[in-house]
Amino acid sequence: MPKENERVTVVEHPLVSHKLALLRDKNTPPSQFRQVVRELAMLETYESSRYLPTKSVTIETPLMATECQMLAISPVIVPILRAGLGMLEGVLDLLPFATVGHLGMERDHVTHIAHAYYAKMPVDVGERPVIVVDPMLATGGSAAEALKYLREKGVRDLTLMVLVAAPEGIETVLAADEEVKIITCAIDDCLNENAYILPGLGDAGDRIFGTLQ
Ligand code: PRP
Ligand code: URA
Repeated sequence: MPKENERVTVVEHPLVSHKLALLRDKNTPPSQFRQVVRELAMLETYESSRYLPTKSVTIETPLMATECQMLAISPVIVPILRAGLGMLEGVLDLLPFATVGHLGMERDHVTHIAHAYYAKMPVDVGERPVIVVDPMLATGGSAAEALKYLREKGVRDLTLMVLVAAPEGIETVLAADEEVKIITCAIDDCLNENAYILPGLGDAGDRIFGTLQ
């Protein structure tokens, strides 16, 4: 069962813990890291989509007509580039009818302040539930900027789905946006002096794409 804490859900499950341990292991190579990020994103999507609205539809089984519940509206998935791209396919495995908006955000390595460098959203993003995906919520600067951008586009139903969150990032995001819900596989201890999450898993983008310095 997920651990509920108002607007923050920690997905607690043996499979999630196991796969997260593989990501934390510094010896996990990019090929496996990428695959496990995708699998964790798929597992988390099960939780993130729990409150998507449904509607009644009449379905003909081979035997008779029956009333069923189906999703009422397709969500928009917004990966924060680059690392969020690693989660996208896992989310789309479960929500293949979703549309995708790309948002490029980068943290300055000295100031740790995030800035947007690219945005391309579906035209109707403001009318749909949006799930923002990014493996890491560290200072919360990137996520807060992304959420602000989406609110300005008219988005009302917003969920932020990350793999690892720092307490500092959660606090920043909850303060920056009064309604967003956060789903994470873990809440770690703190940030180090370079604003990396401890114990964390290192630089998610570099590990997904094999660009480690
Ligand atoms: C990482 C990560 C988040 C951000 C989190 O991206 O994927 O987007 O840092 O940090 P914050 O909460 O302090 O803003 P990064 O800026 O390293 O870019 P990348 O995805 O291209 O590696
Ligand atoms: N971005 C990452 O990829 N990892 C961290 O620990 C912090 C920000």
